[in-house]
Amino acid sequence: MTSPLARYNAQETYDWNYAHAPPPVELDLNSMPGEWRFCGRRVDSPLGIAAGPLLNGAWCLYYASLGFDVVTYKTVRSVERACYPLPNLQPVACGSLHGGESDLPAIDEMQGSWAVSFGMPSQAPSVWRADLEKTRRLLPPHQLLSVSVVGTIQDGWTIDELAADYAMCARWAVESGADCVETNFSCPNVATCDGQLYQHPQDAATVAQRVAEAVGNTPYIVKVGHVGTPGELEELLTALAPWACAVAMTNSVAATVVDPQGHRMFGGQKRGICGAATFEPSLTQVQQASEVIARRGLSLEVIGVGGAARAQHVRAYLNAGATAVHLATAAMVDPAAGAKIRREWAVSFSGG
Ligand SMILES: Cc1cc2nc3c(=O)[nH]c(=O)nc-3n(C[C@H](O)[C@H](O)[C@H](O)COP(=O)(O)O)c2cc1C
Repeated sequence: MTSPLARYNAQETYDWNYAHAPPPVELDLNSMPGEWRFCGRRVDSPLGIAAGPLLNGAWCLYYASLGFDVVTYKTVRSVERACYPLPNLQPVACGSLHGGESDLPAIDEMQGSWAVSFGMPSQAPSVWRADLEKTRRLLPPHQLLSVSVVGTIQDGWTIDELAADYAMCARWAVESGADCVETNFSCPNVATCDGQLYQHPQDAATVAQRVAEAVGNTPYIVKVGHVGTPGELEELLTALAPWACAVAMTNSVAATVVDPQGHRMFGGQKRGICGAATFEPSLTQVQQASEVIARRGLSLEVIGVGGAARAQHVRAYLNAGATAVHLATAAMVDPAAGAKIRREWAVSFSGG
């Protein structure tokens, strides 16, 4: 039988869109004993959903009901923006990626990793702001609504103008009820500098400062990509620490993809590879970040993102110094992933 993903890429089904969120479910979820905190707020577990899969409030409410205590509203902009053409999710055959790989073979069925190609589409601000207000009202009080925003660069803009655009979105998110705000400083699928800020620590700090000023006491998280060297990571974290309470890492590893005929897909441009292939590189980066934070006495939490699918992955991220672990791919492929992690946790790691 053809998989839902293959049918989606063949334009036969549009189940993963704004209109098709399933209603929240009632599950008997295992608890995760321990003192879990997210940017200073108490939460019931370290589990969350990373920016991307939750297209709107209805998706946030559904995944919150599935055992994810921090739900990240997909990255939104100051202007409406369309999605890139299909395929948006292209399964690839590969092992762990560490940066610099190219021409990963595209395959038909999902085996754990896929190239993600959406281009950070966004609803108009009037739509997402109203949706956020409603979502925060409906979300159980002990669960947190984090909102991811990105600046939308215009021709000729300075970094200050980009920073102001990021800050405006962040302020709107807070005014609409966001418990936390995340800025995406890394999107391997957009070529403009709004997708690459994490590679420019001083520019990243300029934007982070404006956002921190705009959100006031609301916890502020920066999402970063796969950083080349420990030295670069140290420079980035040191630049961000005065402004952010946490860094989420990593937003995929970028690579080119070839179709079965050997042609490069996506116009030959790299796409972010997400899922299993990113677990090892993300874990390594979380470990390196934790060492930098401890050595330099920085005030930053780390959120582990990339390839988490099982309780053992969550444990590994926490052991590496993360305070929370957020899923995207595994939770899309199997919405019961959170419930399964909690069950495995009860068996293997109860006591936190
Ligand atoms: C469908 C999809 C859409 C995504 N969109 C965004 C996005 O809009 N903003 C963002 O910061 N990251 C986005 N990401 C990246 C995820 O937040 C996450 O960093 C990445 O998928 C690695 O986690 P995973 O291996 O659990 O998927 C997206 C990922 C997926 C799978």
